[in-house]
Amino acid sequence: MIASAPIAILGAGNVGAALAHNLVALGERVRFGVPEPEKYRDLAASLSAEIGSVADAVDGAEIGILAVPYAAALQIAGDIADWNGRILIDATNPLAPRLAGLSIGTTTSAAEEIAARARNARVAKCFNVTGAENMADPRALDAGVFMPVAADDADARARTLALATRMGFDAVDAGPLSAARYLEPFAMTWIHLAFAAGHGRAWAFSRTQRRG
Ligand SMILES: NC(=O)c1ccc[n+]([C@@H]2O[C@H](COP(=O)([O-])OP(=O)(O)OC[C@H]3O[C@@H](n4cnc5c(N)ncnc54)[C@H](OP(=O)(O)O)[C@@H]3O)[C@@H](O)[C@H]2O)c1
Repeated sequence: MIASAPIAILGAGNVGAALAHNLVALGERVRFGVPEPEKYRDLAASLSAEIGSVADAVDGAEIGILAVPYAAALQIAGDIADWNGRILIDATNPLAPRLAGLSIGTTTSAAEEIAARARNARVAKCFNVTGAENMADPRALDAGVFMPVAADDADARARTLALATRMGFDAVDAGPLSAARYLEPFAMTWIHLAFAAGHGRAWAFSRTQRRG
C-alpha cells in the first residue's frame, strides 16, 4: 500500500464514522465518499478525515470500505466503471426492513452480489459481525472482538486480516468470499441478541481455545 493513499470509507454513518475513528488513530488517512459531502463535512473535520464524492474517494484510494445500506452498496459497486484491482471491504448486512431478518442468504450473500457487480475489485467481507460502537476501539472490550475475514483473493484476504488486526480486532481467516453466506446470518445473531433478546449493544462475540 502507498503510505499516503487514503482509505476510502463509503458512507459516514455509524459504521463509517467508527471505522474512521479507529483508522485515523492508527495514523491512516481516511477519505469519506458520500452523496452529499456538505452534510458530513463537520463530522469529517472532527475525525481529521477528508470527504468528497464516492468517485473522488475511490479514485485516490487502494482500499475502499462499504459502510452503506446494502442497496447502496450494490449501486456503488456497479457505478464505478473499473475498480482496477482495489481491495473493496464489504461491511454491509443485507437487512430486511425493521431488522426483521436478512433479505438474502444461504445460497448467496451481500458480499458475493457486490463482487459480481464490482468490476475488477478484490472484495473482502469484514467489519459486519459486531456493533458500530465496538469498531471504534475494539481494545476497549475485555476480550478480543471476533472479526472473521473472507475473500477469494489471497492477498486481499491477508491485507484485510492485517488491517483488522492493527485496528485491534481478533481477525480470523474465514476462507473464501462465499463464507459471507454464514457471516451475514452471524451478524443477524448479534442483532437478535442485542435487540430482541434484550442484551443491548455493549458486547461482542469473542473466541476461546481449548488447552492442550
Ligand atoms: N450500525 C451497526 O452497528 C452495523 C454493524 C455492522 C454492520 N452494519 C452494516 O453497515 C452498513 C452501514 O450501517 P450504518 O449503521 O453505518 O448506517 P447509517 O448510519 O444509516 O449510515 C449509512 C451511510 O451511508 C450513506 N449512503 C447512503 N447511500 C449512499 C450512497 N449511494 N453512496 C455513498 N454513501 C451512501 C449515508 O449517507 P446519507 O446520510 O447522505 O444517506 C450514510 O452516511 C449497513 O449495511 C449495516 O447493515 C451496521
